[in-house]
Amino acid sequence: MPLDPSDSRFRPLLSAAAVPEDEAVLVVLSDREVRIGGSPRQAGRILALLDGTRTVAEVADSAELPAEEVQDLLGSLAEQGAVVDCVDAWRRFQRESSIDSGLFRALDDESLERVRLSRFEPPSGDRVLLSPQPTSVRQIVELRESAPAGGEARPVSFGELSGVLDAMYGRVRSGNRTVPSAGAFYALVVHLLVSREVGPLRPGTWLYDGAGGELALVGDRPVAAPDVFVSHAAHDSLLSSGNPVVMVSADVDRPASKYSNRAYRFALMEAGAAMQMAYVAGTELGLPVRAIGGVDEQAATELLGLPESIAPLLGITLGA
Ligand SMILES: Cc1cc2nc3c(=O)[nH]c(=O)nc-3n(C[C@H](O)[C@H](O)[C@H](O)COP(=O)(O)O)c2cc1C
Repeated sequence: MPLDPSDSRFRPLLSAAAVPEDEAVLVVLSDREVRIGGSPRQAGRILALLDGTRTVAEVADSAELPAEEVQDLLGSLAEQGAVVDCVDAWRRFQRESSIDSGLFRALDDESLERVRLSRFEPPSGDRVLLSPQPTSVRQIVELRESAPAGGEARPVSFGELSGVLDAMYGRVRSGNRTVPSAGAFYALVVHLLVSREVGPLRPGTWLYDGAGGELALVGDRPVAAPDVFVSHAAHDSLLSSGNPVVMVSADVDRPASKYSNRAYRFALMEAGAAMQMAYVAGTELGLPVRAIGGVDEQAATELLGLPESIAPLLGITLGA
């Protein structure tokens, strides 16, 4: 779990870029700016040391400033979210890779297609053709594809959505889940956004309890699925169909107590495994599904009422 700046193990990391101004230095977060007054030169000297490798005492030492003064400053910056403990670096990347970070470069369509079709092809010698033993899962995924936008309406039954959720993250014989999880932390948090009644589910936000095989109503507010995602022609009609949408988030703090920042990449892998299970189950049931990585993190966090430790990652549309 993250530490606070008075703990001697705390190693401060700047949460975002620092911008020097005439009379202050600003740390620019996605939703606000944190202003550090006093001498911009001195502030700049301290901020340059906040790379997560030094304790507070070491920062004070290197900056040749009294430890108490540095601890007070870092305490205040941590409170405002401008500084995090080194094991929270993943939060910085989650923010930097979010849709509104501004850290993005668009490529023209032609270059994009060239890159899409290029492959890692190292020089190689002999080639051997595989001789796959048939498996039922391979037979099923022969028909796997993402739901096309703009097709005919395809409502979803309660049995179908239950089947997809159970395949994604339900309990299996071992007591664990249908997908593997680094350290068996099972970090995923799976919600269902319901905008129109489906079987016993009334509109609202439902939390999937994979161990118990249940959905629990956690939000009564009417859900407009398109508000939680970036608009795109490939998925807009699927989101506005009124069918339920699965939201996959990850509670990274729990596995981070063992893996520190590696927990974030492990959580992404686990989310990918659960996503594929949704595709496999959907294909077997003849239910169109589509993964949507274009999540508006702020809107999703607000709608789902997620604490800071839980990162929204992915949506999966059901039906059409
Ligand atoms: C991580 C991930 C994110 C994706 N995000 C989106 C998305 O935001 N919108 C969308 O329409 N499709 C999205 N897709 C679906 C891909 O566009 C789709 O898988 C790809 O075009 C290949 O088509 P297929 O799944 O039919 O084989 C995503 C897929 C993955 C795995």
